[in-house]
Amino acid sequence: MFKPTVYWSQGAVKLIDQTRLPHRTTMVICRDLKTLATAIRRLQVRGAPAIGVAAGFGIQLASTRFKGSGRRAFDRHLERAAYHLAASRPTAVNLFHVLDEMKALWTGAPEFSVAQLKRAIQAKAAALYEENRQVCRRMGDHGERLISDGMTALTICNAGALATVDYGTALGVFYSAKAKGKRFEVFACETRPLLQGARLTVWELERAKVPVTLICDSMAAAAMRSGKIGAVFTGADRVAANGDTANKIGTYSLAVLAKYHKIPFYVVAPRSTFDFRTSSGSGIPIEERSADEVRGFQGAAAASARARVWNPAFDVTPARLITAFVTERGVIVPPLKKNLKRALCGHG
Ligand code: MRU
Repeated sequence: MFKPTVYWSQGAVKLIDQTRLPHRTTMVICRDLKTLATAIRRLQVRGAPAIGVAAGFGIQLASTRFKGSGRRAFDRHLERAAYHLAASRPTAVNLFHVLDEMKALWTGAPEFSVAQLKRAIQAKAAALYEENRQVCRRMGDHGERLISDGMTALTICNAGALATVDYGTALGVFYSAKAKGKRFEVFACETRPLLQGARLTVWELERAKVPVTLICDSMAAAAMRSGKIGAVFTGADRVAANGDTANKIGTYSLAVLAKYHKIPFYVVAPRSTFDFRTSSGSGIPIEERSADEVRGFQGAAAASARARVWNPAFDVTPARLITAFVTERGVIVPPLKKNLKRALCGHG
């Protein structure tokens, strides 16, 4: 339905430049790791699953640039690449899972030649790409059952095709519901400071012909109170073992509001966004970004250039505010700690 957000082509990683949407559709072509790491940091590619897939291609990029023949030098080169990518953004755990899976290739196969390891890395990066496509469609199929005819769903940030390879998590639920012929609408929070909701979600949903209404973040309470909203669907950047969920700043406010208004609050996230090594939300690192993102937008100043700013990119929604998780293994309801472990840590 959508062109891939991130893919490998002709020896380079290609990305839709999300900082220029919706007004321009341009590509960033990353022929070296530095360009890719910068693209992740600058949010040219963003969204937890897309960052993970990009990181896999990043290791592939580093591997293809290695011209030597010795395994020790190759392993050191790959370690440096992984270190560089790991420093790009701290919150989305998909990035770190992918780097761990990639590292397991070179630490787990000391007998491989450089050429063999290069092939294994290429195959792994391609598999991660394809897996994300499949998993998003499975989440969509599980989640669409939560959309009833005539419902208006609320979402924040962009958890769509642009945040994954090509389908989305929360927005994937909407695409699957639409494919089933359901009639529903979406309210999209603009998502200050960088407006991923206004710029990206509205663009995506309009292209997919899903009726969408844009609201400022501060309008969510009034929309819920008016009785317009039937459910909230968000993505996630990292889910701790107890179900506490880091997602775009503003998500926690929506969860508190949804609880107050007795509206179900669903998090749509693949297994690769769960971090069972972090027991609760207090252990999730929260990225803080530049003050200028809050002082204005795209170079246009709103506040004084000296205004003191706090700019966390994410917040943590406590598990008790979450009605259910939609994952590729089905819809998981409380008690979350037990049920998440059972559903996601087993095989199958
Ligand atoms: O800062 P961003 O744009 O990378 O933040 C993205 C989000 O918070 C998304 O909701 C999350 O990554 C899930 S995307 C499927």
